[in-house]
Amino acid sequence: MKQWRWKTENKIIPIGKTFAVAPPWIEINRIRISLVMGSSFGTGIHETTISCIEEMENIEIKGRKVLDIGTGSGILSIAASKLGAEEIIAFDIDPNAVYECSQNIELNSVKNVKCSIASNIPQSEEKFDIILANIFDSAILGMATNIKTASQRGTMAILSGISPEESYTVKRKFIHLGFSLIKSRFLEEYVTYVLQMR
Ligand SMILES: C[S@@+](CC[C@H](N)C(=O)[O-])C[C@H]1O[C@@H](n2cnc3c(N)ncnc32)[C@H](O)[C@@H]1O
Repeated sequence: MKQWRWKTENKIIPIGKTFAVAPPWIEINRIRISLVMGSSFGTGIHETTISCIEEMENIEIKGRKVLDIGTGSGILSIAASKLGAEEIIAFDIDPNAVYECSQNIELNSVKNVKCSIASNIPQSEEKFDIILANIFDSAILGMATNIKTASQRGTMAILSGISPEESYTVKRKFIHLGFSLIKSRFLEEYVTYVLQMR
């Protein structure tokens, strides 16, 4: 059997009300996310990742189709799957992240996450119920029109990694595209927005 090394050797990182990042052998009474050792972003200790997971806990994910833009380690996709999402499409520009994400998908036994290399939302007619994008503001702004195209009435978008300086521009852009602002969270360094397509 392959010897995995874990991102959180012997540590439990509680996230939100229900999750914890922890290796498989530590007993926990939360929903477990185990992550292999690797260089990609998404360990569960960054404020943007935490805020996205906390906001995912506040919305109905069960049975929904989810798009995870800039998946990194796959942590948000795995959380979505464990919250009962029907299908999750994840992508990242970085091939190493996609490799790591694929390992984490396998190790967490989540069978409904498809992870691939891409730098923008794949052109298709497909609509999503929930769109997660913890990237940075310029990438979010660059994909804003495609995020709208991948949305339908009621689609929830959780956007993070936005600098306070660019937060107004991002908010205005999404409102202009037909989203309503549900929540703004000003974190220590970044802003997270929860928006819903009107
Ligand atoms: C801040 S990390 C977020 C990782 C994880 N989703 C989380 O919430 O912890 C941002 C990720 O977006 C990826 N990324 C940056 N620009 C991208 C783009 N244009 N398309 C896809 N992925 C991108 C990076 O490679 C990185 O893995």
